[in-house]
Amino acid sequence: MPLFRNFVVVLWVLSSFEGAISHGVQPLSRISIENAVIALEESAYIRCSPSVLGANGQNDELVTLKYSSPNPSIDDWIGVFSPANFSSSICIAENPRVGPPYLCTAPVKYQFANFSSPNYKDTGRGSLKLQLINQRSDYSFALFSGGLSKPKLVAVSNVAAFANPNVPLYPRLAQGKTWNEMTVTWTSGYSTDEAEPLVEWGKKGGEQMRSLAVTLTFDRNSMCGAPARTVGWRDPGFIHTSFLKDLWPNSLCVLFKNLIHVMLSVFAMFRSTQCS
Ligand SMILES: *[C@@H]1O[C@H](CO)[C@@H](O)[C@H](O)[C@H]1NC(C)=O
Ligand SMILES: *[C@@H]1O[C@H](CO)[C@@H](O)[C@H](O)[C@H]1NC(C)=O
Repeated sequence: MPLFRNFVVVLWVLSSFEGAISHGVQPLSRISIENAVIALEESAYIRCSPSVLGANGQNDELVTLKYSSPNPSIDDWIGVFSPANFSSSICIAENPRVGPPYLCTAPVKYQFANFSSPNYKDTGRGSLKLQLINQRSDYSFALFSGGLSKPKLVAVSNVAAFANPNVPLYPRLAQGKTWNEMTVTWTSGYSTDEAEPLVEWGKKGGEQMRSLAVTLTFDRNSMCGAPARTVGWRDPGFIHTSFLKDLWPNSLCVLFKNLIHVMLSVFAMFRSTQCS
């Protein structure tokens, strides 16, 4: 009986996952990037400013896009691509029976061209503010007509890139294998050949310890199939995990600091309360 119940749960998960794909619940899944065609218009443009992001050390920034199309329509949209060279890459066919798509990368974000310019369909001009976060690769922006289901690439922007794309970022904490152990996981663009990932930690003002991190990554060939292996692929960078062992229970404050050769300003404090 328990076995049967597990089977039912698995089936339910599978069927709800399929529902998520076919009903476009995930907003990005509504875009049929594999149907995209290239129809660049000489008089259309899209420009992004600033082109250097994070110039003051920050790892997210608002960019302003300005765009114009000679044949505006309410279903025109702007796609955000990263890496920026999305339209020049040579795509690999998913299987020998179908030809390769014209664009081989799905956007990481999109918005309709009329979103903050309600007159776009009459004037053909618009602007949009978008937040970008540092995800190790550069960005470019594209103006599409034809809606999300039959996208036509009309214009491609200049490239915008973070000043320090590989900086270690996004630390997350988790419980370790035992009650007095925690893990710190973070992401960077540095392989272990380029920088030694480690965490320096200890009581505030006390002795500092150093824990080397384990580094993992995966590549396109680890994916089972499309779209993860094709248009949905994005390089995950390097995922580092360090184990903080022999933590003391209750009211112990631990300060940790990433020592990868780039100066990192992320500090986190936590209280270990898993006292058994
Ligand atoms: C803006 O575009 C969306 C998507 O095509 C559409 O549903 C909406 O009606 C448009 N709004 C205006 C003011 O044109
Ligand atoms: C585009 O960028 C990717 C990742 O940086 C790189 O592997 C690829 O060779 C580039 N393609 C072109 C055409 O520049």
